[in-house]
Amino acid sequence: MTVSAEPRALVEFDVLLERKEVVADGVVRLTLRHPRGEPLPAWEPGAHVDLVLAPDLVRQYSLCGDPADRSVFQVAVLHEPAGRGGSRHVHAALAEGRTVRVRGPRNHFPLVAAERYLFIAGGIGITPLVPMVEAVAARGAWWRLLYGGRTRSSMAFAAELRERYGERVLVRPQDESGLLDLDSFLVADAEVYCCGPEPLLAAVERRAPARLHVERFTPEADDGERTSFEVELARSGRTVVVPEGGSILHAVEQAGVAVLSSCREGTCGTCETVVLQGVPDHRDSVLNAEERVACDVMMICVSRSRGPRLVLDL
Ligand code: FES
Repeated sequence: MTVSAEPRALVEFDVLLERKEVVADGVVRLTLRHPRGEPLPAWEPGAHVDLVLAPDLVRQYSLCGDPADRSVFQVAVLHEPAGRGGSRHVHAALAEGRTVRVRGPRNHFPLVAAERYLFIAGGIGITPLVPMVEAVAARGAWWRLLYGGRTRSSMAFAAELRERYGERVLVRPQDESGLLDLDSFLVADAEVYCCGPEPLLAAVERRAPARLHVERFTPEADDGERTSFEVELARSGRTVVVPEGGSILHAVEQAGVAVLSSCREGTCGTCETVVLQGVPDHRDSVLNAEERVACDVMMICVSRSRGPRLVLDL
């Protein structure tokens, strides 16, 4: 992840929903285009955008189209009836021709250079992996994809990937094959990229492949201790107290300092903030193990402090 002490600009703009098509049971693909046909911001495999569906309804979706095609963004959205309303809005209310506010793209799941890759997808977790597979295949690297889902018809892009890449794509619907056979799939010396529901991510993490990259769209359980601490805002010259029951983000906002945020649950990376002094207690689902140890940035919507004081570049 690139770390910058400069404030990040909010890249936010309107796009038109040009096409909304069903690509699997319960999954629609949205094709979004600039209203005046201008090129959209560049992105790389693993990137996501925020869709501002309503002022208080902002959701993150991985880009699943072709990064070389700057004319459109494509995302695929699973209808989750028990969710918090984002997918319901996309499926039921968002119609072709409508304007949608977009923020981003951002990438907290970048594809590293390597000779061998294993991709593991569960359900809609296939979306960030599609452009990764395309990129790695184009590069001529060795790769395999293990793709699980409830049923074959619920698995977006499965047929296309299988048709295009043959035996390198293992499609494993649970009603036909049971749970994914991770032990047979995980070979040594490969970068492992995994995206999907929490039980799948946890199962892969338990097997501890050496070079694992995961992307979470739901927060990990946070049952860590919560104590009060102080945060000095170096640019604003203010000091705020973060209470046991509150977040740094909330305390900073209460002090009148504007900070970018989106998910407010540690999964999107929008509130990433540079740490100038102190040791953060990382509770997000964005930073990897290396980035956590570096302690130079933190997600202030959920992460806390290991000591009595932090100094942040705010
Ligand atoms: S606002 Fe999404 S990680 Fe903090």
